[in-house]
Amino acid sequence: MKLCMIGTGYVGLVSGVCFSDLGNDVICVDKDINKINNLKKGIIPIYEPGLEELVLKNYKNKRLNFSTNLRDSVKKSDIVFICVGTPTKKNSNSADLTQVFSAGKEISKSINKFKIIINKSTVPVTTGDELEKIIAKKVNKKYFSVVSNPEFLREGEAIRDFIYPDRVVVGSNDKKSSKILKNLYSPLISKGAKFVSTNRRAAELIKYASNAFLATKISFINEIANLCEKTGIDVEDISIGIGLDKRIGSRFLRAGPAYGGSCFPKDTKAIVSTAEKFKINLSIIKSVIKSNNLRSHLLLKRLTLIMKNKIKNKKISFLGVTFKANTDDMRDSSSLELIPYLSKKGAKIKYYDPTGYKKEFKNLKNVEFSTSIGESIKGSDIVIIHTEWNDFKSINFKKFSKNKKLIIYDMRNIFSSSKIKKIGFKYFGIGR
Ligand code: UDX
Repeated sequence: MKLCMIGTGYVGLVSGVCFSDLGNDVICVDKDINKINNLKKGIIPIYEPGLEELVLKNYKNKRLNFSTNLRDSVKKSDIVFICVGTPTKKNSNSADLTQVFSAGKEISKSINKFKIIINKSTVPVTTGDELEKIIAKKVNKKYFSVVSNPEFLREGEAIRDFIYPDRVVVGSNDKKSSKILKNLYSPLISKGAKFVSTNRRAAELIKYASNAFLATKISFINEIANLCEKTGIDVEDISIGIGLDKRIGSRFLRAGPAYGGSCFPKDTKAIVSTAEKFKINLSIIKSVIKSNNLRSHLLLKRLTLIMKNKIKNKKISFLGVTFKANTDDMRDSSSLELIPYLSKKGAKIKYYDPTGYKKEFKNLKNVEFSTSIGESIKGSDIVIIHTEWNDFKSINFKKFSKNKKLIIYDMRNIFSSSKIKKIGFKYFGIGR
């Protein structure tokens, strides 16, 4: 099929490239001419394992193309995916839909035959209805259908998540479009993905409810971890013990720092705000947001105790600053709270991240980037492991540190406390 992806951010680029790999002709459109020129040269704007190879392969065999010309690309396509950002509005918790609606306006100027317009951006319930109205101002409704097809791609695992999804959700108010979409996704459905066909509003809500539920699960285990720390229990045992109950499920039960990234913080706020418009109080999700907002403060309190209230002039090695491993994304990373606080308290921080230097810490006092794990750890009083990159899992602390009193604060529980203690260092994890 001929597809057009509007927006070459995470969702648009990964989905477009994967659709082309499945044999479709795909044009990825973006306003940013530099981004488009770079993509044509195989230069990828985001860090995503496996993406570069797929871009090069499919661009070379001409199934994948890049363009800044939205109207022309829409004209050439049967299905148009809107994959633009829906950030949180300034001074409000609701989603800013400006980009979705302006894409809709542009698309409406280029409809020359029947087209399915798919919203892949995460949007509040009823956005599809609004989009339909915008397009209907220019085009007769018989020439287009607005469908919701949310994505569930995790950064760092996006290609795998696209190829092997648990489910494909399509929300359409007309059967014909739903059938076409089922056909488009048939290579994934035949490999085991469930196809969930709903009306448009339900698909919009499935996306928000999924992210809000996962955020709830994480906050739940984080709070249980707080209790474990006071009662001599290892939270990992709790995660296994409850996760084996199929009604609960074992995934997303890893206790750690506050959840971050481009979705959970934004989407939990947006679903609460949407519900308020319908006079519904989502009190559980509100508590989750509150709990997560307090998380960094709690971890800093524990860190202060671990360091016996002496943070000033302490040398801290901070490993991993992005919001999780396998991404270069700093959006809503808890390091953005932890590092400035420690710098303000007079600590000397050397941070290392496999994805390199971060401009976010540029103006902080005594915060410098180390080019290797060893350089960051050398001479430090404490090592904070903030994300679970594989590179960190095999660190030989003895090799990098001569400090016999080295403390390790493992915020992702990637090490066994007994093993670290055996080599003579003090170890603290989360919920342990
Ligand atoms: C998320 C959703 O998982 C994906 O389906 C969606 O559509 C986009 O948002 P992403 O933000 O890439 O994906 O990351 P994810 O792996 O879900 O992690 C989100 C946050 O939760 C991270 O801060 C991560 O560290 C944290 N997390 C995740 C935990 O603390 N514990 C867990 O068990 C899982």
